[in-house]
Amino acid sequence: MTMKNPLSIWLKLALAASFFAIAADMARAQQPDAAALYREHCVACHGEQRLGGMGPALLPESLQRVKPAEASAVIARGRQATQMAGFADKLSAEQIGALARWIYTPVSPAPTWSEAQIRESRSVVEGAATLPARPAWRADPMNVFLVVEGGDHHVSVVDGDRFEVMHRFASRFALHGGPKFSPDGRFVYFGSRDGWITKYDLWNLTVVAEVRAGLNMRNVAVSGDGRWVMAANYLPHTLALFDAELNLVRTYAAAAADGKATSRVSAVYDAQPRRSFVVALKDIPELWEIPYDRGALEPRRTLLSEPLDDFFFDQSYRHALGATRPKSDGSPSAQVVDLDARKRVAELPLAGMPHLGSGITFAWNGSTVLASPNLKDGVVQVIDMKNWQTVKSIATPGPGFFMRSHENSRYAWVDSMMSPTAKDTLTIIDKRTLEPVAQVREPGRTLAHIEFTRDGRYALASVWEMDGALVVYDAQTFKEVKRLTMSKPVGKYNVFNKITRSEGTSH
Ligand code: HEC
Repeated sequence: MTMKNPLSIWLKLALAASFFAIAADMARAQQPDAAALYREHCVACHGEQRLGGMGPALLPESLQRVKPAEASAVIARGRQATQMAGFADKLSAEQIGALARWIYTPVSPAPTWSEAQIRESRSVVEGAATLPARPAWRADPMNVFLVVEGGDHHVSVVDGDRFEVMHRFASRFALHGGPKFSPDGRFVYFGSRDGWITKYDLWNLTVVAEVRAGLNMRNVAVSGDGRWVMAANYLPHTLALFDAELNLVRTYAAAAADGKATSRVSAVYDAQPRRSFVVALKDIPELWEIPYDRGALEPRRTLLSEPLDDFFFDQSYRHALGATRPKSDGSPSAQVVDLDARKRVAELPLAGMPHLGSGITFAWNGSTVLASPNLKDGVVQVIDMKNWQTVKSIATPGPGFFMRSHENSRYAWVDSMMSPTAKDTLTIIDKRTLEPVAQVREPGRTLAHIEFTRDGRYALASVWEMDGALVVYDAQTFKEVKRLTMSKPVGKYNVFNKITRSEGTSH
């Protein structure tokens, strides 16, 4: 056997190594530099650090509900009738792909949003403070609806007696979590995905003030006395407290009692009968209550074994009922927290994935029951609130998101919008027999989110599509009464039902 010349092997290896190094360099050079492309083409509208500007923020947190394929398509082809033009003629497919991937990666260093930045972001509309304290229009100010149109980011003001659009205005991009009213129904506070709070004067149909409370926000709450506005942020991990004019009072770090971990804030709600805000934290097992009638506004913590996601209150506001993440064996769990005793008092026997944030309560058989739709199963579960036992599981055509009723109506309405085949069907349940009695359908289209008129005589639902509609049904006969064209009406809010905390709707 002849030995090969060892030198030549080394030579070959060295040559191969340098070849691979050069090839890798070339590949890197061909990889589009997404950061540079962003600075060149996108920064003017989407902002430094992708925090937003004229266009929305492009952060992983902001894009949670946007599929990567959709982001690519938007970058390539733009969004019709908006400032977002397509880039397919300026950028190659690889460059667009690289940008679409890059916007889902965290910004480094992580963006901050300080108290100084919050204060600096505030703006006030001149003259708005001296507008007359009476409606500038003719309609029952307590029976007006605000309809949030997510399709083109507008809000319609609808007269709840005549079912006519009185006014329509552009909102911030992607409103989140339902607008909140001042106690007299004059002012409305909208929260947006990107952290903007807009204060709107409904009687004079004009924006009054704006402030950016965070970079990615879940919702806002207004205190029952109208003095305070609280914002729940995912980014940064804070709550931000404002006075009614949107002046920042303070922020709260959403940090665990031991100070070690911080958390996204899932939701803040006003508990007016308790004169407090109640706050759920997404990542740490604590529920906070912040009383607002004693000046200090310091959080009182209830320590839990699991973090609470969204939650709602019983009519007495003594209990918060919230879903937790499914346990490690996949089984669902929901808990009842006694806000006075500051501890968990019951586990709820709920199947699937209850959507408690949209639950309702009503009197039944001498007791009060809670009914909640389910995000995973076609079922509405009814639970007796005295002993927290299931009274009945009502089958629906598919998993749903929203459930609504009204004190004056015998019926509760629930959608099946989480089901690809039954998303077009609303099921109407008799609150006395707990039996489904009727369905209304909008074949092939998503039909969801019911809200009643002030008197409970009409139920309004959304055809939840870009070329959608607001559909008014007679709440007794379930017949369609009227239909108004709308751009993906994702939510509607009746002034009276919201400020009186109707048992048939979430607050
Ligand atoms: C002239 C301003 C402008 C420029 C330049 C611009 N955008 Fe946009 N972009 C917008 C606006 C406005 C929207 C919101 C459109 C809407 O209403 O849906 C948007 C939306 C988007 C969305 C969808 C976000 C969501 O949450 O739905 C993505 C993704 C996006 N832009 C990426 C980019 C990228 C990447 C670039 C650079 C290649 C870019 N944009 C350049 C204004 C702009």
